[in-house]
Amino acid sequence: MAEPASGADASLGSSETSSARRKTPFGLAITVAGRYRRGACIAKGGSSTVHRAIDQRSGAEVALKSFHVHRAFDPALLPSLETGRAIAAQLGPDVMVPILDLGADDDGTPFVIMPIVEGETLGARLDRAGRIEPREALAIARRALEALDALHGAGVTHGDPSPDNLLVRADGRVLLLDHEGLDAIGAPRAARTTEGFGRSGGTREARDDHRALAAITAALVGDARPAFSDASIDRFITALRAERLEDARAALGWTTERGATVTQWTFGTLAAVGVLLLVMSLLLLLLLLAR
Ligand SMILES: Nc1ncnc2c1ncn2[C@@H]1O[C@H](COP(=O)(O)OP(=O)(O)O)[C@@H](O)[C@H]1O
Ligand SMILES: [Mg+2]
Repeated sequence: MAEPASGADASLGSSETSSARRKTPFGLAITVAGRYRRGACIAKGGSSTVHRAIDQRSGAEVALKSFHVHRAFDPALLPSLETGRAIAAQLGPDVMVPILDLGADDDGTPFVIMPIVEGETLGARLDRAGRIEPREALAIARRALEALDALHGAGVTHGDPSPDNLLVRADGRVLLLDHEGLDAIGAPRAARTTEGFGRSGGTREARDDHRALAAITAALVGDARPAFSDASIDRFITALRAERLEDARAALGWTTERGATVTQWTFGTLAAVGVLLLVMSLLLLLLLLAR
């Protein structure tokens, strides 16, 4: 899961001079590309840290994504971000967070500038709430599928849908994050995905993203990652798309309202044990009195 914002950089003073190479206590440039002034941390992902920043040219607040060292010097990164920018622009801001600017800072560290999306990733939601009630989990999955359907309709797979890469916007829409893993349906699969919700080897298929969505939906209700057959994934997706939520639920192997059932079962069992103990104590008392 992405680490939540620490706010550790929020206290940077406003007395910065023109020096683009001044660093935060964590060794990050305060001003990137001579233009974006880094502020508070929003979250850390598997390959980057995302901060609030001020675009000193326009005065607008933006999201600044800076890549960690293990990713920063990959020569394939900038071209894949360029591809991601074009795809995001084609899909529109209701599907994928747009890229406003990208490039490499003076020291070669690649960066991405996006609008800040106010909302909560599913990873943050899980960290906060633990688990989500099945009905709401399916409703969120339905919105996530809308975004994935739009992406797949453009002939592209995400490659790494994970709770941290799905952001529920304030209006309820689910937006896709993470541009650098996008690739065409039929392209060779990456060796591994960040969160392990996807697959490796072979060629990329829409079903890879669907498999990840099924696993994410299961994770939302507190299921450990179950292994789904291709048939159950297809059934889940078809039912979700048609808003047949009972069928979608059944495809994931949930036969009942899981949360409610567990609670009822627990209270029911406790009540039964209590009554049994009471009856046994009364019988014991009667036996003792009868002597
Ligand atoms: N445009 C944005 N607005 C708000 N938060 C964002 C934005 N982009 C990313 N984030 C936050 O930063 C985290 C990491 O971003 P992401 O692009 O997924 O990086 P990584 O490639 O390191 O996984 C996300 O899980 C989310 O919490
Ligand atoms: Mg991510």
